[in-house]
Amino acid sequence: YRIDVVLLQTMGWRWPVLTVSCAVFIYYYIYSRSDPRVSGHVSANSSYDYIIVGAGTAGCVLATRLSEYPDISVLLLEAGGSEEDNPVIRVPFAALELQNSEVDWAYRTEPQQKACLGMDKQRCAWPRGKVLGGSGSINNLIYVRGNRHDYDGWAREGCEGWSYKEVLPYFIKSEDIQIPEFRNSAYRGKGGPLPVKDGTVTPLADIYRQAMEELGYTVTDCNGRTQTGYCPTQENVMGGERWSTARAFLRPAMNRPNLHVIMNAHVTKILTDEKTVTGVSFIKDNIKHTVRATKEVVLTAGAINNPQLLMLSGIGPKKHLQQMNIPVVADLPVGDNLQDHILMGVTFNDRTNSAGAALPSLATMLQYLIFRSGTLSEPHLEASVFIKDDDSQFPSTQFTFYSIQNHPELIDKFIKLTNLDPKIRDGMRERFQKSINTDIGTFFIENILLHPKSRGTIRLQSADPFDPPLIDPNYLDHPDDAKVLLKGIDTMMKIANTTAFRSIGASPNDPSDEYLPPCNELPFPSKEYWVCRMAHYAYTVYHPTSTCKMGAANDVTAVVDPQLRVIGIKNLRVADASVMRNIPSGNTNAPTIMIAEKAADLILGVDSVKHIRKVTENL
Ligand SMILES: Cc1cc2nc3c(=O)[nH]c(=O)nc-3n(C[C@H](O)[C@H](O)[C@H](O)COP(=O)(O)OP(=O)(O)OC[C@H]3O[C@@H](n4cnc5c(N)ncnc54)[C@H](O)[C@@H]3O)c2cc1C
Ligand SMILES: *[C@@H]1O[C@H](CO)[C@@H](O)[C@H](O)[C@H]1NC(C)=O
Ligand SMILES: *[C@@H]1O[C@H](CO)[C@@H](O)[C@H](O)[C@H]1NC(C)=O
Repeated sequence: YRIDVVLLQTMGWRWPVLTVSCAVFIYYYIYSRSDPRVSGHVSANSSYDYIIVGAGTAGCVLATRLSEYPDISVLLLEAGGSEEDNPVIRVPFAALELQNSEVDWAYRTEPQQKACLGMDKQRCAWPRGKVLGGSGSINNLIYVRGNRHDYDGWAREGCEGWSYKEVLPYFIKSEDIQIPEFRNSAYRGKGGPLPVKDGTVTPLADIYRQAMEELGYTVTDCNGRTQTGYCPTQENVMGGERWSTARAFLRPAMNRPNLHVIMNAHVTKILTDEKTVTGVSFIKDNIKHTVRATKEVVLTAGAINNPQLLMLSGIGPKKHLQQMNIPVVADLPVGDNLQDHILMGVTFNDRTNSAGAALPSLATMLQYLIFRSGTLSEPHLEASVFIKDDDSQFPSTQFTFYSIQNHPELIDKFIKLTNLDPKIRDGMRERFQKSINTDIGTFFIENILLHPKSRGTIRLQSADPFDPPLIDPNYLDHPDDAKVLLKGIDTMMKIANTTAFRSIGASPNDPSDEYLPPCNELPFPSKEYWVCRMAHYAYTVYHPTSTCKMGAANDVTAVVDPQLRVIGIKNLRVADASVMRNIPSGNTNAPTIMIAEKAADLILGVDSVKHIRKVTENL
C-alpha cells in the first residue's frame, strides 16, 4: 500500500491522506498478490538462440512470439526495471506523472533553430520509457494503425512484403477488439493478446462529433476501411488499466522455461567478429556481462537507442564513427532520417461548463481504487479526426481532442514536464494561477502534423554508452511543415465556429489569459501570432521513428533490408519503430506492434497469419 500513497502524492493529492491510505490498504490487502515473476531473471546463461535488446513495445511482442516455440531459447534484456513496481503506470489518466520520473530516459533535444524557442536553451523534452513495456508503459494508449497508403508507399519504395495488404493480418493477429460494433469487421481481430476498447467518456465527445460532422467529416473506424474522418478514440485500456505489450504479451509468457528476461541490464555493445554478430555485452549492477547469440541479435531499443547502440558498435556513418574514435565495422546511414510528429495545442473554453471534462477529485480517486472506473480509468483523449488535403493520398493532419479540465495542478504539471525556459516558466505559472477560472470548463485540441518533410538525426556525443545520444529532430526545417500546421489552425478556427461548439460557448482560450511570450504581444488571431506560437511552443507528439530506415538491400539510404536485417552484417536485425521507412499517418504504437509481429515470422521463416490472410485478401 506504500505504493498507493506514492500514487496519491504524485497525483497532486491534498486531501487527508490517512483516510485514503486506509482504504487503499484494505483494498490491497484483499486483492493484491505478489507475482513471483515480477523481477525477472537475475543471471543469464552464456548463450541463447536469440538475444533481444530492449523490452519496449516491440521487444515484449517479439520475445513472446519467438518463445512460443519451446525449442528456441530467448533472452530479453531491458535497461529499466519492472513496470509492476510503479503503480502509476497502471493508471491511464496518470501517464503525465511518469515523465521525468525514474521510468523515463528524460532526453532533451539539441537546441533547435526554428522550433522549441520557448524552451530552456531551445531544447525540447523527449520522454522515452525506461521500464518493462518501454514507451508503451508511459504513453497515452491511443490505438491507431495508420493509413493503407503509408504501407503501400513503403512497399513501392523497396520494402517488399510491407504493403498494406501484407501487414494488415499482423495488426489483426495482435488484437482483441472490445468495441461491439466492430466485432464483425474483417479489419479487426478477435482473441489476440491486445485489448482495444472505445475511449469516449465525457459528453464533450458528442460535441466534437457534431462539430466535425458540420464540417463534413463523418464518423469512421480509422482502423478499418477508411481512415479519414472523425474517429472516436480506440485505446489499449481494459478493466480501467493500461495494457502495454508488457502486460498483454510478455507477462503471460514470462514463466516459459525457454525465455529469460533480465531487467536493469543496460546493453553497451553489439559484439561482432568481422561482419558477423556474435552476441552482446551489458552492464547490470555495475558488472559487465557478455552473452552469445547462436542465431541472432535483434534490436528493439527504440528509435533513439538503436542507432546509439549500433554506432557504439561500429555500425553507422563512417565519418562520425571516426570522429568518435570507434572502429568502423560497417558504413551505414544509421541515425539519419529521424522523423517525428509535432503538434500545436490550443486550449478551448466551455463556457457552459456542462460538458464535464475530466478533473480528478477525492471521489474519483476512491472510485478508481475500489472499482477501477471513473476519471482515472481513462486517458481522456476522446477522439481524433484525420484530415486529408484533396491532392494527397493520406491525411496531412490529425486533430486529437483531449477532454481534460484546465486546473492549476494540471498546468503546473505541463509546465514542469515541458522543459520551458525558466524565465517563461515562472511567469507562466504565476499568470495561470491567477487567470484559471475553474468555473469555466476547458478542453484541448491538438493539431498534429502527420507527414513532416524535415529530417533529423541521432548522433553520439561520445563513445561512452552511458552518455545520452545527441537528438536533433530539426523541427520545422522544411518550410512546408509550418504551412501544414498553419492550415490546421485555420481548420481549428472553423471548428470553433460550428453550431456545436457555439452551443457550449466553446472558443479558443484568449491568449491574453495565457503567458506565452513573446507571442502575447502580437495581435490575436493573426498569422504572425500563430507563427510565433509554433516556433516557441509547438511540441513533440512523442513519435520518433525511422532512424534505421528499411529499404531494398541496394538502397544507399537504408539501414535494414525488408527482412529487417542490418545490411552487410550477419545475424543482426532491427524490429521496432526505428525501421519505419517513413512515419505513418497516426500514433506509432500499433504500427510498432505490427512490425514486431511480422519480424517474428521473418526471423523464424514461418507464416503465422495464413488463416487471417484468407479473410483480408480482398480488403
Ligand atoms: C509520452 C508518450 C506518449 C505516447 N502516446 C502514444 C499514444 O497514445 N499512442 C501511440 O500509438 N503511441 C504513443 N506514443 C508512442 C509509442 O509509445 C512509441 O512509438 C512506441 O512505444 C515505440 O516502441 P519501440 O518498441 O520502438 O520503443 P520503446 O517502447 O521506447 O522501447 C525501447 C526499450 O528499449 C530499452 N532500451 C533502450 N536502450 C537500451 C539499452 N542500451 N539496453 C537495454 N535496453 C534498452 C528502453 O528502456 C525501452 O524499454 C507515446 C510515446 C510517449 C513517450
Ligand atoms: C539455461 O541453461 C540451462 C543449463 O544448461 C538450461 O537447462 C536451460 O534450458 C537454459 N535456459 C535458456 C532459456 O536458455
Ligand atoms: C462563423 O460562421 C458564420 C455562419 O455560420 C459566418 O457568418 C461567420 O463569418 C463565421 N465566422 C468566422 C470567423 O469564420
